[in-house]
Amino acid sequence: MKAKPPEKSSGDWTDEERVSAVRRMFREITPRYDLLNHILSGCQDIYWRRVVAGRVPSEAELILDLASGTGDMALALARRTGAKIIGVDFVREMLAVGVEKSMRRGCSGRIAYLTGDALELPFADNIFDAVTIAFGLRNIPDKDRALAEMSRVVKPGGRVFVLEMTFPRNRQAKRFFHWYFKQVIPRLGGLISSRRQAYEYLPESIAGFLTPAQLADRMERAGLTAVRARSLSFGVTCLHEGTVP
Ligand SMILES: C[S@@+](CC[C@H](N)C(=O)[O-])C[C@H]1O[C@@H](n2cnc3c(N)ncnc32)[C@H](O)[C@@H]1O
Repeated sequence: MKAKPPEKSSGDWTDEERVSAVRRMFREITPRYDLLNHILSGCQDIYWRRVVAGRVPSEAELILDLASGTGDMALALARRTGAKIIGVDFVREMLAVGVEKSMRRGCSGRIAYLTGDALELPFADNIFDAVTIAFGLRNIPDKDRALAEMSRVVKPGGRVFVLEMTFPRNRQAKRFFHWYFKQVIPRLGGLISSRRQAYEYLPESIAGFLTPAQLADRMERAGLTAVRARSLSFGVTCLHEGTVP
């Protein structure tokens, strides 16, 4: 019998392999995604999205939430602003949970969910007052194109918000989170979701993501101005924001 070839680690994936693995993983972990987010982050994920929603200008009327997943960012925006929100994601199963939660919370009149790819947004130029992407950019190989698309659909003067996980810079915090990401998350995530590979990918994707300074640089290269980064929860998460000129 032929031996099974060893599985490639996510660091060795081609861009195409990454995109299909991301689609498959999110489809598979959909039923446990929200629960695991809250458990693994100690409910900090709720606070991080609230911070983003609190930074969106109060006069915003139309907001795009990209890589919307199960809709928690869109729901935080609906709670904090009076805007209409469109959530876009390329995994229909994740969006279906968002639709159901929005109905349960009485927000379905304010949030619409659409299946779509961050690299080819089905919108005209300059129509949104703001765009948010929470824990999504890390999963997109062509980050420059995603940032360019986000800037394209936002009106001049509108805002772009990127919320992402990072490794803290403080040495002790870094050591702790390294252990937590490498040892705890794959085991606990694997146990609860029965999809250990997805929770091995999570820390690998964080480790392989841009540093806050590199991300700020990419946002500037995408044409955004007044780019600022704000570190949250000991630097384990970072919120970048920029303005479309
Ligand atoms: C970690 S989840 C984040 C979901 C949500 N924003 C949140 O705060 O919980 C990442 C999401 O990005 C989506 N995604 C990844 N690449 C995408 C792409 N190119 N276009 C649209 N969605 C994408 C995945 O399907 C997944 O739902």
